[in-house]
Amino acid sequence: MRDTCKNLEIDTKIHTVEYNPEVVDNKAREKGKEINFIIGDLYDIEKVLPQDFMNSLKHPILITDDAHVNIANNLTYLNQFLEEGDYLFVEDLNPDSSNVIFDPFNFE
Ligand SMILES: C[S@@+](CC[C@H](N)C(=O)[O-])C[C@H]1O[C@@H](n2cnc3c(N)ncnc32)[C@H](O)[C@@H]1O
Repeated sequence: MRDTCKNLEIDTKIHTVEYNPEVVDNKAREKGKEINFIIGDLYDIEKVLPQDFMNSLKHPILITDDAHVNIANNLTYLNQFLEEGDYLFVEDLNPDSSNVIFDPFNFE
C-alpha cells in the first residue's frame, strides 16, 4: 500500500493493525515514519482504533480488512467514522465463512 501510494505520488499516512509483532517485516519497519504499526487485537477494536484517533484521520479514508476476524463488529464500529468519498474493503470474503453472519450491504 505504501509503495503504491508513493508510486502514484499520493500524500498519505498508513496505519496498520497487527496483533503479532513478529510478522511485521523488517523492511516495512524501516519505513516506520511513513507507516504507523499498531500492535493490537481486532477483537478489541475500540481500544486499538479509539474514537479520538479515528476522528483525527484526514479524509478520504481507505480502510482495508484482511484479518478475517470479528468482521461484522469491526465494520459496524468503523462505519461511524466514514464519510462520503471514503472506501472500505474486505479482502478475501468467503460467504461460506462462519464469521460472516451479516449482509455487507446492510450493516448498521
Ligand atoms: C491474511 S493476513 C494479512 C496480511 C497483510 N494484509 C499483508 O498483506 O501482509 C492476516 C493477518 O491478520 C492478523 N490477525 C489475525 N487475528 C488478528 C487479531 N485478532 N487482531 C489483529 N490482527 C490479527 C494475522 O496475524 C495476520 O498477520
